[in-house]
Amino acid sequence: MNSSDVQRLLEPIIDSDLGKTLKELSAIHSVEIAGHRVRVFLEAVGPLHWIARRLDHDCKAAILATYPEADVEVLVRERVVDVKRSPTLSGVKNLIAVSSGKGGVGKSTMAANLAAALAQRGATVGLLDADIYGPSQPTMYGLAEQSMRAEKTPDGKIIGYPNEAYGVKIASIGFVMQRDQAAILRGPMLAGYFTMLVEQITWGELDFLIFDLPPGTGDIQLTLTQRIPLTGAVVITTPQEIALADVRRSIQMFEKVRVNVLGVIENMSYFVPPDLPDRKYYIFGEGGGRSVADEYRVPFLGEVPIDVRVREGADSGFPFVLDPESGAMGDAFRDVAERVARQARIANSDTLNSQLQIDL
Ligand SMILES: Nc1ncnc2c1ncn2[C@@H]1O[C@H](COP(=O)(O)OP(=O)(O)OP(=O)(O)O)[C@@H](O)[C@H]1O
Ligand SMILES: [Mg+2]
Repeated sequence: MNSSDVQRLLEPIIDSDLGKTLKELSAIHSVEIAGHRVRVFLEAVGPLHWIARRLDHDCKAAILATYPEADVEVLVRERVVDVKRSPTLSGVKNLIAVSSGKGGVGKSTMAANLAAALAQRGATVGLLDADIYGPSQPTMYGLAEQSMRAEKTPDGKIIGYPNEAYGVKIASIGFVMQRDQAAILRGPMLAGYFTMLVEQITWGELDFLIFDLPPGTGDIQLTLTQRIPLTGAVVITTPQEIALADVRRSIQMFEKVRVNVLGVIENMSYFVPPDLPDRKYYIFGEGGGRSVADEYRVPFLGEVPIDVRVREGADSGFPFVLDPESGAMGDAFRDVAERVARQARIANSDTLNSQLQIDL
């Protein structure tokens, strides 16, 4: 067994997110061999929270099939994509907006559980509640009594710090003012608060920053998409036709401002009665999210059922996905989180490829 033999075994392995082989991706950095010990050093575009385990498994299987006595270790290093961002966001690797055309479809619930699911998987995560009219995250994360920590620098600039719960860093206009106050503020003041939230909060190093947007396609959505280089946006809908019409508007807005649509998530897809676990009731219709995703040729990222425990979690300040008893319902959120991470990888890989082409 020598390192080029092992390398040849690894080359045809497919990176399942990107649909290319490790050879095509130049992902095999080196292979070290000492007796039975084999150390494989890979380099892959992040986020790596799901793919690293799959690559670890596939590399071990490929080597052990030929060298059953080998003791294999796989180390995957993140290939960082260099994107110019403002100083407060310079340590953030993936910025993902959670949006919807229609109100009340579950953006905030999805953003809260998505952030928690990513953190549960070992990612460092921030959540920016960009809904300045109706901030939800302080309540959903049990931080409603908190206020924002901020300080003034010697040159008079204000720096804000996020609060933290369940391993997720959170900033919200709700930490700066009472919930009902936001509703009576006029446009320019709201815009000022919004600017503060996106430009003056120091996040530090994060794998993901999730933005919980207000509904619709108004000024805030436009400001955000123009000022911040997002990795992409996910669009939440219910299966109902009236919600789908608004999803179309949302996707069109992102396409117009050249923000990647990472995909559509269908929320409140169906209801499984706890006493009849084999039944599914399609309360708002069936299949609408997938069909609108197909219509715009964007990925469909999954269905999340209606579950009273999700609503209770949101109201009591505990993201339901973190409940050890969350079962199939929690898996629905975790599956969506994995698919979002995969789409972020695809977007980062595209960015990297276009940078490489410019360099050539
Ligand atoms: N999958 C679900 N199961 C049960 N309840 C849910 C689910 N998703 C959302 N909800 C509940 O539906 C209501 C609306 O959800 P949420 O506040 O997340 O929507 P939103 O799109 O952020 O609304 P807005 O447009 O007002 O910001 C909340 O009471 C929430 O607890
Ligand atoms: Mg909301």
